[in-house]
Amino acid sequence: MLFRGSHILSTDQFTLGDLQRLFAVAQGMEPYAARRRTTRVLEGAILGNLFFEPSTRSRISFGAAFNRLGGSVRDTTGFQFSSMAKGESLYDTSRVVSGYVDIIVMRHPTIGSVREFAAATHIPVISGGDGAGEHPTQALLDLYTIRKELKRDLTELRGMRIALVGDLKFGRTVHSLIKLLSLLEHVHFTLVAPRELQLPDDLAEEAKRRGHSLRATPNLYEGISNVDVIYTTRLQQERFTSEAEAERFRGSYSITNAVYTRYCGPGTVLMHPLPRDSRAGAMELHDDLNANPQLAIFRQADNGIPVRMALFALVLGVEDKVEASARNVNWYVPARIDVE
Ligand code: NCD
Repeated sequence: MLFRGSHILSTDQFTLGDLQRLFAVAQGMEPYAARRRTTRVLEGAILGNLFFEPSTRSRISFGAAFNRLGGSVRDTTGFQFSSMAKGESLYDTSRVVSGYVDIIVMRHPTIGSVREFAAATHIPVISGGDGAGEHPTQALLDLYTIRKELKRDLTELRGMRIALVGDLKFGRTVHSLIKLLSLLEHVHFTLVAPRELQLPDDLAEEAKRRGHSLRATPNLYEGISNVDVIYTTRLQQERFTSEAEAERFRGSYSITNAVYTRYCGPGTVLMHPLPRDSRAGAMELHDDLNANPQLAIFRQADNGIPVRMALFALVLGVEDKVEASARNVNWYVPARIDVE
């Protein structure tokens, strides 16, 4: 695909070659993400960061990635603080914001809404998630993480085994990730979920059609043994018709350190798009895993910066100009601060 001037709305857009290109640019962004270098390549550019659903990581990391390229960010959070609360349409909002900024990131609770928003504007729109639909940039950083954690290039991930665990029905990060992983060869997917929360049929069929093996099981312990990566998800309670309906499934797939030690191979990588639900009774990935070196969730979240920087640079066509306006940072960057 031509990154320059494109909307990023679905992982369907990418080929393996696109991913290789994106990840090579992301690799080059690592010194900036690690605060050793700083660049002003997007000086003067403004990102409109529009989030109409709760977000911590995506909103902050999109904004920080743009800032780290030297650009500025204008944010809006939640319907109640935007004119959509006064009945403004997606079309009008899109047309108006397009007059103010150079690129837009948008998250919205309705499937297809980001695409509708993008159709109304002449500037690039990157999806930050559309309801239970897709979350393409999360899948990009997830695959970037898998590649880094397993220390294998994309083509060397052939035959990898991944367990997708939890709410596979409403979990948009899984929907996007399974499509992206389907670009690889012979991936073994284990879909660990209660029958009611299994992956939508069309996504499963498409992965099978592309030659991957899929096995669905409601049994956590069986599903997580003998895999390279476990990708757990939060119960998407906001997408259920009632709290009580979601409650039935809460905590049914909790992975503790004891479960990990007993059922997983020593090298199994633990991932989660976050937020993990750390309330008692949920604990998809228990807090007692925090010291486990295979818990990759915070490295995974950190990878959001270089991957989103790379996307911005490619979409705005500055990927070859980053270094020309770069220098070492002036401030002190601690490796670690211990609390007494
Ligand atoms: C996910 C999302 O919003 O879809 N979070 C994220 O962006 N990292 C996952 C979730 O909310 O459970």
